[in-house]
Amino acid sequence: MLRINEQEFKLLRDFIENECGVMLGKEKAYLIENRLSKLAKDCGCNTFGEFYRKLSNSRRTDELRSLTVDAITTHETLWFRDQQPFKILEERLLPEYQKAIQQGKRADIKIWSAACATGQEPYSIAMTAMEFYLRTGCEEESCCRQMNILATDVSSAILAAAEAGRYDANAMTRGLPSESLNRYFKKEKNEWILNPEIRNMVTFRQLNLKDPIAGIIGPFDIIFLRNVIIYFSETFKKLLLNRVAGLLNPGGYLFLGAGETVGGYSEAFEILEYDGTIFYQIKT
Ligand SMILES: C[S@@+](CC[C@H](N)C(=O)[O-])C[C@H]1O[C@@H](n2cnc3c(N)ncnc32)[C@H](O)[C@@H]1O
Repeated sequence: MLRINEQEFKLLRDFIENECGVMLGKEKAYLIENRLSKLAKDCGCNTFGEFYRKLSNSRRTDELRSLTVDAITTHETLWFRDQQPFKILEERLLPEYQKAIQQGKRADIKIWSAACATGQEPYSIAMTAMEFYLRTGCEEESCCRQMNILATDVSSAILAAAEAGRYDANAMTRGLPSESLNRYFKKEKNEWILNPEIRNMVTFRQLNLKDPIAGIIGPFDIIFLRNVIIYFSETFKKLLLNRVAGLLNPGGYLFLGAGETVGGYSEAFEILEYDGTIFYQIKT
């Protein structure tokens, strides 16, 4: 493993924050050593100083930059993470939207999973919708067409894994109820393959939350922006939460991760509570 000195750390830290918003405090120097040493060596660098020079001389579209972002970002996720957002979706939001669809007041439901990692979050949304449709006796196929789920992430390698919808035994033990496993997955050798009906409910796209997003995607009825703003600076959280507010339709909802809040960053949201869980609605 390569060792990083203070000067190299500062240069790489600033480069990474500028590239994808991820902020690394001094105590995270080991993360750069752990996650970027192999990449640095693979591209012929003997020090992080050389690696920084290579990176900063590369163009924005060069593969080295995306490999660096893939390696430095944390892709930890699981099925139905924190459970409550999916319960709120099924018990409160989907019935509300379904009623509006039946009354001819809306045509569809647009949901954005804004940092989807390996896909467990958007696919959990899709499975939740499918369960709701099955339970309410809605004609499954037409209901699924009314559900538009966009899933994005900065990491193209992680997105490719998400889009494939194939998971190993370790991923399958994390949060997935056995009924969902039996209903929506098929086992092939050492992998579980997601049923195409669920997979096709989600559209994947590479998107860096650091880049301008208005006019590129959206608007949405519900945004899942979970367990990603914790990695960003206070300044970027403010900017991003206000940008995200601009992508919500009137009355639209926002879910953050369990340890995250809009408090102190954006005035654009009302705080709602359901069964002890906080979520947000855009102010009218
Ligand atoms: C810890 S995972 C969270 C996954 C999922 N939302 C959840 O709650 O389980 C964080 C994800 O954010 C992505 N990410 C980090 N910085 C990003 C950025 N600037 N734009 C888009 N995605 C980003 C990472 O690639 C990673 O997949």
